[in-house]
Amino acid sequence: MARIAYVDGRFLPISARAVAIEDRGLQFAHGVYEVIKAVDGRLLDLDRHLDRLERSLAAIACPPPMGRAALTLLLEELLRRNRLTEAMVYLQVSRGTAPRNHVWAEDLEPNLVVTVRPARFPTEAELARGVAVITLPDERWARCDVKSIALLPNVLAKQKAAAAGCREAWLVDREGLVTEGASSNAWIVDRDGVLRTRPLGPAILGGVTRDVVLELARTAQIPVAERPFSVEEAYAAREAFLTSTTSLVLPVTEIDGRPVANGRPGATTRRLGALYAGRCGLAAPVDR
Ligand code: PDD
Repeated sequence: MARIAYVDGRFLPISARAVAIEDRGLQFAHGVYEVIKAVDGRLLDLDRHLDRLERSLAAIACPPPMGRAALTLLLEELLRRNRLTEAMVYLQVSRGTAPRNHVWAEDLEPNLVVTVRPARFPTEAELARGVAVITLPDERWARCDVKSIALLPNVLAKQKAAAAGCREAWLVDREGLVTEGASSNAWIVDRDGVLRTRPLGPAILGGVTRDVVLELARTAQIPVAERPFSVEEAYAAREAFLTSTTSLVLPVTEIDGRPVANGRPGATTRRLGALYAGRCGLAAPVDR
């Protein structure tokens, strides 16, 4: 069955050439996005994703393309049309279409594109083995809290990671502290057994999964500190993992070619992974 996308009021085959040439997203990367997962037909943490979308839209001076209720119905309709119940939903809002000019008219209507595709969550084997990451300089802009579609530094870093046989690039600021992954948040369990991740701020995207995992950790009485960690601390960590909507809680067992501890996923990571998967209705990871 051909995949169906939503493009500015129309449902179209994914292959349709439907976006305007002078879309400001295309010409200026003037747009924001969200990635949401559906499990058993449910859009998980939808409110948190839509809250973040509203914050991102405000940051790029863009009105919402439609109200929350209408948007929710639209996402559900697109899942139905694609006959998907376990899916990754990609939603992009751009600042609209107009002859190319850096300055825009305040009343320009935003453009909305939504696509869905079957979810590819980590397999049982990946969760059992963990993944490798490399560290690279963080070359992004000063507002990484905005989920901007301008992802050039992210995709270049991710490509370097892939070329090095790694799943993710952990980005490092000028002080030698890890900010986050190119498309995920970064975590360690440090030598004192404290779960650490970078605090919210302009240096990272406030991940929805990050928020949920912090809540799960606090409820489980795991010691947590939202405090940056250095590359050296990551090398010396007891455990490491990354989180994102699609990667869930994914153990990191190698950093820059060095094994993390004994090179196997740690107990806290596995515990949080199980708690998170359970909360999402993905209690028994299977090879998908
Ligand atoms: N990436 N940090 C960055 C830079 C990200 O791009 C993402 C998500 C995250 C994790 O956020 P969340 O837990 O809300 O997914 C952190 C998405 C999945 C993507 O670009 O595909």
